[in-house]
Formats: sequence, C-alpha cells, structure tokens
Amino acid sequence: MNKPLRIALTKGRLEKETVALMERAGLDCRSLHDKGRRLILPLPEIHAEAVLAKAADVITYVESGVCDIGVVGKDTILENASSLYELLDLGFGRCRFALAVKRGEDFFAGYGHKTIATKYPKIARSYFEKQSMDVSVVKIEGSVELAPLLGLADGIVDIVETGETLRENGLEVSRWICDISARLVVNIASLKLRKEEIESLVARLEQGLNRTE
Ligand code: PRP
Repeated sequence: MNKPLRIALTKGRLEKETVALMERAGLDCRSLHDKGRRLILPLPEIHAEAVLAKAADVITYVESGVCDIGVVGKDTILENASSLYELLDLGFGRCRFALAVKRGEDFFAGYGHKTIATKYPKIARSYFEKQSMDVSVVKIEGSVELAPLLGLADGIVDIVETGETLRENGLEVSRWICDISARLVVNIASLKLRKEEIESLVARLEQGLNRTE
C-alpha cells in the first residue's frame, strides 16, 4: 500500500476553518481535535496524515514533495510559492492586501523617494513595479503598522481583514491591491502520481464547500 497522503495545514487562524471544512466534507477529524502538541495527525479513514505547519513552511513542504497537498493563504502563495498547483479557492480566511498610510496623507503626492514597510516584500515590490514607481521596501516581521507611526516608512503593504488595526493606529487604506483567501495547493509530481486519491479528496472538499451548515 502507498504511504499515507500528507496534507499540510496552516496552524492557527486557518486551521479551525480547514478542519470545519473537512468535517463538512464528511472526513473523520477526531485526531485534529484531540492533538495535544502533536504535529502529525493520522487521518486513517482516507489513508492520510495532517501536518500542522506555519504558513510559509506549508509551501516549502508541498513544493519539496514531502507533503502532497496543503492549505495556505493566497498571501503566502504570492509571497513564497514558485512551483505548485493551486486547485481550489476554499473561500475562508478572506481578507485583502492594501497600501495604507497615516490618516490624511497622500502616498503618491510629491517626488521624494518613498519607503514601504511590509511582511511581504515580494508582493510590495511587484505592486510598485506595476505602478512604475521606484520604492524602497523594508521587511518587518509583524505589527507593521508601527513603521509609519515611528517614521521608518511612508506607508505599509499589509493584510487588512476588519480594518480595525489600521483604524486604532491612525492609518487608512490608500489603495486596495488584491483579494486573499485560503487555497488548496498540491505538489506537481503528486498530482500526477497520486491523481485518483487527490482528485477524490478534492471532490469531497468541493462537496463540503457547497454545504453551509
Ligand atoms: C494581521 C495584519 C494586520 C492585522 C489586520 O496581523 O498584518 O496587522 O492582522 O487585521 P484587521 O484588519 O482585522 O485589524 P497579525 O494579527 O497576523 O499579526 P502580526 O502583524 O503581528 O503578524
């Protein structure tokens, strides 16, 4: 028998919604509810294993082929992925990328050189390249909203979900960049070698997406 199909799940915010979707698809997810500190959980009913990883690592594991499938946000795919297939938009984890500035400021005014702070340098660079703007990009690890407040940057490129973090820190959206949601991704070789298993899992997840309870 083949080794179990490995499914990398993004720990944290997306994990709960992924497990809920898998359950709507009729999968037995007891091991994921009762996981303790374990990071690899058996899903024997479908001869699979769930692997719990940080978002960027989901990409690393799926692209390298040590995991066959993954669930990860489009933000992480845009920033980190180079060779995998995106099979399904799972519809949860919805938010948007935006350029944000201090309330009342116009990022595009004047001719001075501008600096952007972001956790997503690749996405920020590609956005400003499309605008034909030469902008310096500073990588920040978190709480990016601090950078313009402290005077390190003229604006940020970041994820906006409710907009509350921007509001409470005196920032506002200057431009919306793109929509984000959780995606089902698959290793390119796995899709060829384990086509039936993967397609049957994808079909079940699609049924789960169509069930609303
Ligand atoms: C994300 C993002 C914003 C915030 C947006 O940060 O970077 O800071 O959530 O959410 P909101 O629009 O609902 O306020 P996260 O919580 O992941 O923390 P981090 O900035 O420390 O990475």
